[in-house]
Amino acid sequence: MDMYAEEIISHYEYPHNKGRMERPSASFHDNNPLCGDDMTIYLKISGQKISEAMFDGSGCAISMASASMLTDEVKGKSLAEVGEMDARSIISMLGIDPGPARLKCATLSLRTLKEALLSYRKMPADGSVREL
Ligand code: FES
Repeated sequence: MDMYAEEIISHYEYPHNKGRMERPSASFHDNNPLCGDDMTIYLKISGQKISEAMFDGSGCAISMASASMLTDEVKGKSLAEVGEMDARSIISMLGIDPGPARLKCATLSLRTLKEALLSYRKMPADGSVREL
């Protein structure tokens, strides 16, 4: 098994930042009844930076590993930096191109995180949240 596949399986089996966050600054819940995925992203935001990120839910290995890695990745980043992230950021974070069939799985965490940011009222209104 290659290094990237091992990393994905490790994040799936031992996810980072998994659980419910008490009193988040922003959160968003989404699910997909077709494949059974269920994802909530929680963020603590201070001074226009993400200080804490957690996720909860269930789903396929790619979607869960992506949420585990993404919640590590965004800690300490500014809202503008996170707003710039897109599908390519996720592919480079995972280290593999999941292909068109699994791209939705891979980007579920980022889509949910961006919805959480959009719901955050203090988000700068400068269009810095880019569509995937
Ligand atoms: Fe639904 Fe992977 S099977 S996100």
